Amino acid sequence: MKALILSGGMGTRLRPLTHTIAKQLVPVAGKPILGYVLDHISEAKIDDVGIIISPETGHHVKSYIGNGEKWGIKPTFIIQDKPLGLAHAVLTAENFLANDRFVMYLGDNLLSYGLNRAIERFNHCGAEALIFLKEVDDPKRFGVAELDEYGNVFHLVEKPASPPTNLALVGVYIFTNRIFEAISHIKPSARNELEITDAIEELIHMGCNVKSEILKGWWLDTGKKDDLLQANTIVLDEYARLDIKGFVDSESSISGRVTIEKDVKIINSNIRGPVNIGEKSIIKDSFIGPFTSIGSNVSVNSSVIEHSVILNEACIEGIERLEDSVLGRNTEVKRNDRHHKALRLLISDDSVVEV
Ligand code: DAU
Repeated sequence: MKALILSGGMGTRLRPLTHTIAKQLVPVAGKPILGYVLDHISEAKIDDVGIIISPETGHHVKSYIGNGEKWGIKPTFIIQDKPLGLAHAVLTAENFLANDRFVMYLGDNLLSYGLNRAIERFNHCGAEALIFLKEVDDPKRFGVAELDEYGNVFHLVEKPASPPTNLALVGVYIFTNRIFEAISHIKPSARNELEITDAIEELIHMGCNVKSEILKGWWLDTGKKDDLLQANTIVLDEYARLDIKGFVDSESSISGRVTIEKDVKIINSNIRGPVNIGEKSIIKDSFIGPFTSIGSNVSVNSSVIEHSVILNEACIEGIERLEDSVLGRNTEVKRNDRHHKALRLLISDDSVVEV
């Protein structure tokens, strides 16, 4: 069994963060989303891993994964020149995948549990594909599946205006090499992409059996800002633990599950978990409240922050209350102490500021 992780694409919905960072590298609870994907691949003991990358952000993905040693995998980086769809990404990886079965995992999806059970089932059920599904409230945003009474998939449709069910395709699929034949029969969709959903529908038309695995735990598609905040909350809630490697002075208090990485300084501040604070950050005269992830080299001074994701090198000073916010790398949010109440902004393309 091989694995194919899709880490290409444009990441348009997470702009402006994705102007400078690959969508799959946006951190959730202090770790890039792709890191959680690689953990699952590694737990499933798959070592031959193809990684689809784009020409624009591929170098960031490559430098994060390196030689794959950290996860015990052997990565093969495959450039997809243009994001022409998930099935196009599979075609781009055809030489790498050859005749092997493979797990395809979208690099921006987070699942509450791993792949072992589904792989085991797939290896013994004789199907040509197995797809992960999850009941959702808003199926229009996703690929949607219909099942017969035995859990076999008999119809799929991508982002339907009137969804036939509330079963969304989660970004994890297992295939045999018959998927290539199916892809050769499909045409680009209305959004001009070769859709994997259409290719699976084609497998069914070819008479192949497609099984499903309905996820009972959480699944997070980190497409937009609020999805990212929700992912941060759920992952912190599940994984945060008390682990203090940095320095906390005697004027500060730490309560709940708080992870403080090395070379962090907490001075005259209160930190109430679940919270994650990355290396070399300095928190002074501040309150950091539940469900906040702070990156590395961040400086927070005389401020209150809750339920937010703050990326590396950001600087926050004199802000009475920052909530439900995502700050990109190297950003500054500072209080203007002059008497007139003007806002002074330098914000990048696609930013959102609520005042
Ligand atoms: O998140 C689950 C959904 O993912 C499924 O329900 C849909 O059926 C499936 O089509 C897909 O929909 P999205 O529109 O959300 O896919 P997106 O364009 O966001 O791409 C998903 C990942 O694949 C993302 O990490 C980028 C990567 N990608 C995407 C395209 C289009 C590539 O590597 N190459 C591509 O050509």
